[in-house]
Amino acid sequence: PIWMATVSAPTNIACIKYWGKKDAKWNTPTNDSVSVTLDQKDLRAVTTAAASIKFEKDRLWLNGEEEVGASDSKRFRACVDGVKALAADPSKWKDLKIHVSSYNTFPTAAGLASSAAGYAALVAALAELMSAKETYQGQLTTIARQGSGSACRSLYGGFVAWKAGSAEVSTEGGTPWADSMAVQIADENHWPELRAVIMVVSDEKKDTSSTAGMSTSVATSTLLQHRIAKVVPERMASIEKAFLEKDFESFGELTMKDSNQFHSVCADTYPPIFYMNDVSRTIVRIVHAYNKWAGETRVAYTYDAGPNAVLYTLEKYVVEVGALMAHYFPSPATATTAAAADGYFNDS
Ligand code: DP6
Repeated sequence: PIWMATVSAPTNIACIKYWGKKDAKWNTPTNDSVSVTLDQKDLRAVTTAAASIKFEKDRLWLNGEEEVGASDSKRFRACVDGVKALAADPSKWKDLKIHVSSYNTFPTAAGLASSAAGYAALVAALAELMSAKETYQGQLTTIARQGSGSACRSLYGGFVAWKAGSAEVSTEGGTPWADSMAVQIADENHWPELRAVIMVVSDEKKDTSSTAGMSTSVATSTLLQHRIAKVVPERMASIEKAFLEKDFESFGELTMKDSNQFHSVCADTYPPIFYMNDVSRTIVRIVHAYNKWAGETRVAYTYDAGPNAVLYTLEKYVVEVGALMAHYFPSPATATTAAAADGYFNDS
């Protein structure tokens, strides 16, 4: 027989950014982070995991093409072996090989947090396949985190924090960093008016991967050390409060400031890393001019390790924000922008 399970996981967009690893082996972060999980309509990964005694080795296909050797990668192994250890009947799966096929519903190269959705879907599909049982709440997120840090936050909906955790907290099996896991702060029904608008500025592959970039930042940026010690702890507390109170003014300001600081850390990295481009910076200016004109924060930008903008706004301002951006970017290149903005409205 072949056993199969198919799941889908959405991506998430951080408001307080994860940037820096404390323990590269276990993929734990230098600071807490928090994100909004988008809904399942648009930006998601759909993954099927299958097991059979007829399979000779683990294999992985991404968007229909086999990733040769990917099944031996540290990230993939951590996920497969991690979930196998939690299987309801571990002896059944121990020697079975796994085939995984995953599709993104958005361009992988665009750098729209595709690894977050991808590894979250991988862990969820494996967990479903093997009826895995957590020995404590959040354990599956500690496995997804080893696939890609940001993936742990996509296992829950709503507003989700990734707690940095501590090396001293271990499972019964002796795995350290057992509390470096995702925790849901508010579920997906808490703030139904919140929207994310994605502006695809470029769909070219980024030149510095997050993993490489954050490693250089940890080694060279003094601003990152200040951020870890002083800035993030305060911001985490403030933004959780803002989200729970549905206070868009504070939520937006904290989100924009944290994006700005993350990109400042990149500039403070030696040699410096630049993810935003001129179009990204123009969007920043438009957002501030619009909020100033409105006399309140109606839209907030945030940028990950690439030039694409994610705009958080409220349902009542979505049409206005879309029209504003279409006004400034009417050229063919920006026809994509308007179309993407149209197509990627998300109930967050
Ligand atoms: C800028 O989760 O992709 O999007 O753990 O090395 O796979 P790895 O990194 P990854 O980094 C994401 C960085 C970020 C900020 C964030 O999502 O918090």
